[in-house]
Amino acid sequence: MNAPASAAPAAATADVPLTPRQQQALSAVLAERGALPGALLPVLHGVQDALGHIPPAALPVIARALHLSRAEVHGVVTYYHHFRTTPPRGRVVQICRAEACRSMGAEALMAHAQSAIDAHGCDTLEAAYCLGLCAQSPAVMVGDRLHARMTPAKLDALLVSDPSAQGEGA
Ligand code: FES
Repeated sequence: MNAPASAAPAAATADVPLTPRQQQALSAVLAERGALPGALLPVLHGVQDALGHIPPAALPVIARALHLSRAEVHGVVTYYHHFRTTPPRGRVVQICRAEACRSMGAEALMAHAQSAIDAHGCDTLEAAYCLGLCAQSPAVMVGDRLHARMTPAKLDALLVSDPSAQGEGA
């Protein structure tokens, strides 16, 4: 299960059926990636990329398509922090908490971000474990954009900025 640092919308359950859009996206991902060797992770990434999360009702569909048990799929989804089963609130703000970023103040940045996001209540804060910018830490991802050498002041500016703001770094 994903472990967002801030409150997420109410959890969906497997009893909530997939919407037509979700069914269409899931079918497209399974058609594209379902036959790959070790297809489960590519499928899960594809579903989350398409829908922002992995709806619980998608798990049995994925399990059937990949000839896996529902427990196997559930186990993988809940093992990796990256996967979420509820829609994120607003933008997803990921702060790297891996070693290089920790050594450059990531924990203080995380606490600062938590306070800021709690105050405006518009985004979802999550921990990440290496965003590939170790040499320019601490690293943050807002939406799909990476930002290097983050500071609390720069993060504040990002959180009030347009979501399409350019990232720096990779
Ligand atoms: S340790 Fe943070 S980007 Fe690699």
